[in-house]
Amino acid sequence: MGRPDFRGGSGGGGFRGGRGGDRGGGGFRGGDRGGGGFRGGRGGFGDRGGRGGFSGDRRGGGGFRGGRGTPRGRGGRGGGGMRGGRTVVVEPHRFEGVFIVKGKEDALATRNLVPGESVYGEKRVSVGPEGDKENQIEYRVWNPFRSKLAASMMAGLENVFIKPGSKVLYLGAASGTTVSHVSDMVGPEGIVYAVEFSHRSGRDLLNVAKKRPNIVPIVDDARHPHKYRMLVGMVDTIFSDVAQPDQARIVALNAHTFLKNAGHAVMSIKANCIDSTAEPEAVFASEAQKLKQEKFKPIEQVTLEPYERDHAVVVASYRTGKKAKKEED
Ligand SMILES: C[S@@+](CC[C@H](N)C(=O)[O-])C[C@H]1O[C@@H](n2cnc3c(N)ncnc32)[C@H](O)[C@@H]1O
Repeated sequence: MGRPDFRGGSGGGGFRGGRGGDRGGGGFRGGDRGGGGFRGGRGGFGDRGGRGGFSGDRRGGGGFRGGRGTPRGRGGRGGGGMRGGRTVVVEPHRFEGVFIVKGKEDALATRNLVPGESVYGEKRVSVGPEGDKENQIEYRVWNPFRSKLAASMMAGLENVFIKPGSKVLYLGAASGTTVSHVSDMVGPEGIVYAVEFSHRSGRDLLNVAKKRPNIVPIVDDARHPHKYRMLVGMVDTIFSDVAQPDQARIVALNAHTFLKNAGHAVMSIKANCIDSTAEPEAVFASEAQKLKQEKFKPIEQVTLEPYERDHAVVVASYRTGKKAKKEED
């Protein structure tokens, strides 16, 4: 796509609000090669160097300033900071289905599958001829302080293995906020099977799915994939954010049931959910090791600072060996 200008009440910059807490700012300092400003970063299995943040912020500023206020608060709900009345542009991100709203502060966004609707109060921005709704494209701003998937993209993940047309199994869907952005990313040709075992969150998830035909909501325990096997087809990618000590096992159980050979798992790990006494790096390594024992090959790891402390996202490919290929033939 090109670089359409937009202006109007919902246009503007990025985020100023993050979530409560004590970590202070973080955020991007720009830089024109897409590097700079990010303190977390890649490691573990990749060796191609860091690539955090937005590329091409020629003004060298902006970004997510994201401070944290009270420990458990969720300030900045809906993004905050999108200021109206300024001309900005929307550019494709290097991940298909993800965009960058350029402004004083750049913001991550997805193209709204259901134009005119916010899911959780997030900001929307429209691009296209003014007053010509039919030819406008609407984007929903995606706050990396509220989504580990978005945070992993900002942290410079090389490949998220979710794109238009993908079939995704999402474990730990909660109320469906991140799920809704995955629904935007995969678009009308893709599908998101979203599993959440809390009935309370599940209610919100069902409401999100009512308006988004590419989400199949499943209110059930991800530890028992056989219970929902009638609802789920084979998938390209499993994204997991269940924050459970046995998460690697949960991912493996679902992979053995639903993941295509040579598919991928993208697993968000909260170190102290697994082992609050060990060093986070040791926890991340041991989770990757558990995946290895389950026919996965870890290929990438990013830590999520400054968006989440002591969190990492590990990406692993599934059954890529000769044996799997032989079985397929
Ligand atoms: C960290 S939150 C997920 C946040 C969500 N991914 C987002 O970005 O909006 C973890 C969620 O996983 C759910 N969960 C934990 N264990 C689960 C299980 N065994 N099966 C299904 N959901 C589970 C919790 O109820 C909680 O809603």
